[in-house]
Amino acid sequence: MSQAEGPAVEVSEEVLEALRGASRVVALTGAGMSAESGVPTFRDAQSGLWEQFDPSQLATPEAWRADPPFVWAWYAWRVGLVRSVQPNPGHCALAELADLREVAVVTQNIDDLHERAGSTVLAHVHGSLLDFRCMDCGAPYDGEIEVPTEPVERLDPPTCPECQGDIRPGVVWFGEELPRAAFDDAVAALEALGPGDVCLVVGTSGIVYPAAGLPAVALSAGATVVEVNPQETDVSDMCHLHVRDTAARVLPTLVERVRSG
Ligand code: APR
Repeated sequence: MSQAEGPAVEVSEEVLEALRGASRVVALTGAGMSAESGVPTFRDAQSGLWEQFDPSQLATPEAWRADPPFVWAWYAWRVGLVRSVQPNPGHCALAELADLREVAVVTQNIDDLHERAGSTVLAHVHGSLLDFRCMDCGAPYDGEIEVPTEPVERLDPPTCPECQGDIRPGVVWFGEELPRAAFDDAVAALEALGPGDVCLVVGTSGIVYPAAGLPAVALSAGATVVEVNPQETDVSDMCHLHVRDTAARVLPTLVERVRSG
């Protein structure tokens, strides 16, 4: 595993002790987990997607109904972006941690970087960018999709072979229900934690509910909740310990230190 670029990663003895003593770890990840792979987050100043694009025009069922080619074009561009990047050392470290501990990955991310790093993801609570289905009949779609390399204004979504409806991305838009089974699995994994287990909260601003309420489930279960995020967030108060650095720098260091005992 490669050594982190830049200054040494500072991780407290408490964090290491908590992870060394844990038999089970649930990792709750957000957009910051994929930032060092080149996938923009949503709310980081300047670089965040919602700094550049209006979510009400792109990430709601109403926006889709108003202009499917406009919304489809944006998601097709993001499919291209995700396909063009690689998991970062943070993703790889979480996959390696599963050799040392019982690890469950619960992510808000719609990319497949955890899976490409070798992790089994228990729950994509905000859906997946690479799952497509018909907006009308709901039939899954695994046909070819045109992927622009640069953002384009409009692109016609593919047509459903079943009902001729429009194909949409399998992501959860604002105002839509989260996938019930995925969310229930996430809550069950967190409730199953106990004193001595660890919940890692990595790269999320903790602004979007109900996912932002998940760290509190780990807290009530008695687990040690550790935040990995360069910034303070809306869930920092739900976390016992904090590592103010990036996912790709901190997670490899944690795994190395746990492995070396
Ligand atoms: N490593 C760790 N954390 C990072 C890194 C990094 N390299 N870079 C940024 N962060 C942190 C930021 O400090 C911020 O707290 O990641 C967080 C990203 O926050 P958001 O952009 O709000 O992303 P997220 O919390 O995942 O958003 C939740 O909002 O728009 C919806 O559905 C979308 O799933 C998304 C949800």
